[in-house]
Amino acid sequence: PTEKRVADLLSRMTLKEKAGQMTQAERGNVAGDPAVVTELGLGSILSGGGSTPADNTPEGWADAIDGFQERALATRLQIPLLYGVDSVHGHGNLHGATVLPHNIGLGATRDPLLVARAGRMVATETRATGIPWTFAPCLCVVRDDRWGRTYESFGEHPALASVLGTAAVLGFQGKRLDSSRSVLATAKHFVADGDTAYGSGEGEYTIDQGVTEQSRDHVEAVDLPPYEAAVAAGVGSVMPSFSSVDWTDDGLGNPVKMHAHDELINGWLKEDHGFDGFVVSDWQGIHQIPPLAGDSPTTHQIVTSVNAGVDLFMEPSQFERFHTRLVAAVQDGEVTEARINDAVSRILAAKFELGLFEEPFADRSHADDIGSDEHRAIARKAVAMSQVLLKNDDDALPLDSGASVYVAGRNADDLGNQAGGWTGTWQGFSGDVTEGTTILEGIEAAADDVTFSEDASAPTDGADVGVVVVGETPYAEGYGDVGGPEWAWDPADGGVPREEKSMALQPGDADLVERVCAEIETCVVLVVSGRPQVLTEQLGSIDALVASWLPGTEGDGVADVLFGERRFTGRLPVSWPRSADDPVVNVGDDGYDPLFPFGWGLSTGGRASTLDRHRLELQDAVLDPVDGVPAAASKAIAMADVALLEGREARAHRILTAAR
Ligand code: IFM
Repeated sequence: PTEKRVADLLSRMTLKEKAGQMTQAERGNVAGDPAVVTELGLGSILSGGGSTPADNTPEGWADAIDGFQERALATRLQIPLLYGVDSVHGHGNLHGATVLPHNIGLGATRDPLLVARAGRMVATETRATGIPWTFAPCLCVVRDDRWGRTYESFGEHPALASVLGTAAVLGFQGKRLDSSRSVLATAKHFVADGDTAYGSGEGEYTIDQGVTEQSRDHVEAVDLPPYEAAVAAGVGSVMPSFSSVDWTDDGLGNPVKMHAHDELINGWLKEDHGFDGFVVSDWQGIHQIPPLAGDSPTTHQIVTSVNAGVDLFMEPSQFERFHTRLVAAVQDGEVTEARINDAVSRILAAKFELGLFEEPFADRSHADDIGSDEHRAIARKAVAMSQVLLKNDDDALPLDSGASVYVAGRNADDLGNQAGGWTGTWQGFSGDVTEGTTILEGIEAAADDVTFSEDASAPTDGADVGVVVVGETPYAEGYGDVGGPEWAWDPADGGVPREEKSMALQPGDADLVERVCAEIETCVVLVVSGRPQVLTEQLGSIDALVASWLPGTEGDGVADVLFGERRFTGRLPVSWPRSADDPVVNVGDDGYDPLFPFGWGLSTGGRASTLDRHRLELQDAVLDPVDGVPAAASKAIAMADVALLEGREARAHRILTAAR
């Protein structure tokens, strides 16, 4: 049994070897001098976003990782490395991988089986390149859509993040971690990263890494439930958030950096909830622990974090300094050897469970599955199921494949934009990131007569239908000069970060919608974005409006619902705000009155259950101008959806029936 093997190995390890196991370096920083892997006895290496071997093929990845593994096995005790990567919606760094919709889109599917299957597919593609560990899923419950990582959230309600987050964990990890189709999952970012006060972060991370100004009751009710579920499901690792949480009753005045949060990591996670996996720090996460004096990671930062319960340290470039200072801190009595033994035992247990001692090298038997037709079909189905039909006047959708279709908009034919962050690079970028089908290509395959206008003012030439694809450009975390694409600081705005007004439709997009909808009889607008975009002003001129989220590489899934190959079944994972000035709309808030409520989603054809029929009737009422009716109906739709997610179907029926 694992426990015995861990105890035996641990009893033979020196302090330096133990500290090595607790150290993780970044691929690019050890590739030039791989001997350091053996010298320090490194426990782990990661590929950060966009960090790929020169040969970016499955073989190239497997060869590179096997090379590091050989160095690890050359150590005295031959302990294998644990390699990790951000396969958050696919093995996004790998050219040719199948890339799924980001979590926000999966949240719209409401389908745990699909999410588990998707997780299995991502795990297979990841492990086939020699990587047994992913830094996913993100269990964030997004409470302000302007937050920098809204697109990585399954949605605004804890029940949704719990159900789908657990499904993702089970899909990634499978029944056995030593299967060539399984990877160890990471529940991140512990905790309340999606619940930080807007603008409370520092510098370029103003909208990403901040402070959760909420009471302890609130954090327990909103942010912690997905972790409780993931721990119960056996998630193997947990990553703390860069943000700070106050764990006092009023939630004010004493926020503690999560990487230093003894009460939440040692207390809530490990002692109270029996988490027996390991806690891995985020990228230089401990460098933010105050005081910030000296070269990070300082001894103080290391000691505080190890003693708070963090076990493995993502120190992409300062791994040698970390290792030396950790050893010294133990020798000086600032960290007990018992704490070190606990941390190392957790890491070794994962390596044993993953079967790395038996088979440390890449099992390439599933390499042909990467980007295979079968995997792309799963992703395509997920895309179709994630599409949310927000408006559909006079049954504008589904479209007739014989109609002449005019397609326009910068997100129509851009694989990078539709894939979003964690694809190709850390922030994601525009351009040819990988292989796949753009939304335009999907439409071209579905319809006979398609004209694509790259120029925003190209004539519409009497087309029957206009499809305008608006939205965002990719990003991953925060804003600012962090190497991201043009979204970072927009000189045209005099240096005002574009993300500050990210909920508003970009001016070019607004003009395009106005022109196409004025010129063409049937006007369909697709929103390709990681969060709602405010279209209240344009809504009247749009016949059909679809939230497409960030669909990933299989753009033809969008065409499937547009042309009726599949029905629209997606439902909003977040409430859709009326105005860019009021982006904070969550189910249960006082005066809840969004443009479209949580759980909203129209349908195209097919048989509806009684529950669905009642919901669809209430959706009509939301569009009804009678005083007070829309808000009451919105609330009922959202509350009934929450009841369903909690498995309380009878309650959902009661809510809908009473509201009708
Ligand atoms: O896993 C990520 C995390 O979500 C953000 N910081 C970097 C980590 C590793 O790439």
